[in-house]
Amino acid sequence: MGGDDTAIMRNTIVILSILLLAFTGCSKKISEELPVEVESELETPRLLHPAFNLTEDDLSELCSGLPESVNRNIKERSEYFLQLILDVHPWNSDLTVLVNKEQSLNREGVPEDLVSLDEYKDQLLLSRSGHRLRAATLPSLLAMVEKAEQEDIDLIISSSYRSFEYQEGLYNRYVERDGQEAADRYSARPGKSQHQLGTAIDFGSIDDSFALTAAGKWVKENAWLYGFSMSYPEGMESYTGYVWESWHFRYIGENASKLEKEFFDGIQERMLRFINNKSNLLEAALI
Ligand code: DAL
Ligand code: ZN
Repeated sequence: MGGDDTAIMRNTIVILSILLLAFTGCSKKISEELPVEVESELETPRLLHPAFNLTEDDLSELCSGLPESVNRNIKERSEYFLQLILDVHPWNSDLTVLVNKEQSLNREGVPEDLVSLDEYKDQLLLSRSGHRLRAATLPSLLAMVEKAEQEDIDLIISSSYRSFEYQEGLYNRYVERDGQEAADRYSARPGKSQHQLGTAIDFGSIDDSFALTAAGKWVKENAWLYGFSMSYPEGMESYTGYVWESWHFRYIGENASKLEKEFFDGIQERMLRFINNKSNLLEAALI
């Protein structure tokens, strides 16, 4: 074999070696990486939040029955949604208890941390003496009232905690005045009022004129920033059971009011029904 032939042979061997290396390199990549990816996709679907053992399919099953708009919000930002759920702790928060025409409180159900608002009469505008609320609402209420004042808005507290018996007397008087069918549209029966929780407040005139006042507009816009939420919004009577009450706000906590606004179209009843009906499943999904 001449010198040229040897050189050609050597070059051929080099080229073949390079091709072989490139080929085995590729096939190694394919055999090592692709199956792992495929395998992980197939066997361990991605969890949406580190604290919950929930995949996208699990969450959409948990959310079935919610309106399309709510499901869309949840699907678009599922990790943030679950973070807020975690912050709200629906399985042990007493601020997000569901009280409506179906879910009642006992006659004996009196909150333990009721405080007299008279102690805060320098900071709050009170329609009379003797108003009481749960201590848990106070820091946020005081912050909200202070902010409103800075903007020349007077938030007058006209109704607050009501005992079972007080609500009973009130409801009976409304029935006498307007008849039961009419009373049931605007007054809760005893045991079914959020006021018995000690976290609900009626502001201002307690009638429809409040919505048109500066205070009515301000509180509608800003209450959620302080953890308060309008319980009976306009046009929702068939869902909430009550006519629009522009003056009635319930303290549910800042994370819950964020959850309500960002995911449940600002409808408190919808959010409370979800987190109360699903709290066991959500708690069971905790890692
Ligand atoms: N007005 C509301 C529904 C209540 O009586 O609690
Ligand atoms: Zn009220």
